[in-house]
Amino acid sequence: MPETNSIVDIRATIVETRRISTAVSIITLDCPAIAASARPGNFINVKVSDTTLPLLRRPFSIHNVRGTLIDIMVKSIGSGTSLFCDRPAGSTVMVLGPLGNCFDIAGQEFDIAILLSGGIGTAPMLFLEKTLAAKGKKVINLIGGQSKEDILAGNLSNCRFATDDGSAGFRGNVVELLRSELTTISKEGRAKVFACGPNAMLKAVASFCREEQLACELSLESVMGCGIGICYGCSVEVNSPDGGLRTILLCREGPVINGELLAV
Ligand SMILES: Cc1cc2nc3c(=O)[nH]c(=O)nc-3n(C[C@H](O)[C@H](O)[C@H](O)COP(=O)(O)OP(=O)(O)OC[C@H]3O[C@@H](n4cnc5c(N)ncnc54)[C@H](O)[C@@H]3O)c2cc1C
Ligand code: FES
Repeated sequence: MPETNSIVDIRATIVETRRISTAVSIITLDCPAIAASARPGNFINVKVSDTTLPLLRRPFSIHNVRGTLIDIMVKSIGSGTSLFCDRPAGSTVMVLGPLGNCFDIAGQEFDIAILLSGGIGTAPMLFLEKTLAAKGKKVINLIGGQSKEDILAGNLSNCRFATDDGSAGFRGNVVELLRSELTTISKEGRAKVFACGPNAMLKAVASFCREEQLACELSLESVMGCGIGICYGCSVEVNSPDGGLRTILLCREGPVINGELLAV
């Protein structure tokens, strides 16, 4: 996967926080240096408060870039994320980024990109979709959630939905939706899957793509401390070419990995 250069640690102003569901907000940060070099799939590490609580920064995918502004989509699940969502516009946070590698969209091996996401895993897809569209690639979004309240489609285009309870779109999970749509999608050209969501979903995506010999990249999650390869908090095991397993640091060699690498 392509790597990212020019990491900066800057104090960024929160321009706006917009709640889009009971637990999820879009937070807009003014950080020109990160906006200028960010690539789809990169993340930032945010010190959400000026106190030592919480001590560690929290990682968030870059949801969108608009000039000098970056948007991030934050789901409030604990102390750090709820503090962050409650910070008022005009206050500032320390932001380290852009971090990690990015989705590999430069190759010519696909005509249509299938952006497959579940829950808060939809966060990186808007920036990815806009960048792919600017390169003239066709994009389809397959988005899953437990019910329609969990679908975070926002400004994404060409979307199909899957919900466990059938309250929006296909009844079932998003990998089953991919299975049901693949023949139709494949008529439009060679497809490549870009996925982000819970690790269990990503394992199912990787296994399906192997069966169907579909190119696939996955953005994984792990607990992260430093975001820059120092604390070893983000180590995960992936397949190695000799048939065994090897350990990578997800903040440096990820968060995006080739689907072939995921041990399923
Ligand atoms: C590369 C990367 C990109 C991410 N992008 C986004 C994003 O765009 N939007 C977003 O809302 N979140 C994203 N996350 C997850 C986000 O960083 C965590 O939700 C956040 O750190 C939790 O902080 P907290 O203090 O609110 O929760 P804590 O109080 O630390 O934890 C609350 C609960 O959530 C669990 N938890 C904490 N972190 C994670 C995690 N990474 N995955 C699963 N469970 C976790 C804890 O075990 C605990 O049970 C990303 C994570 C990574 C690694
Ligand atoms: S988060 Fe510290 S090494 Fe990856």
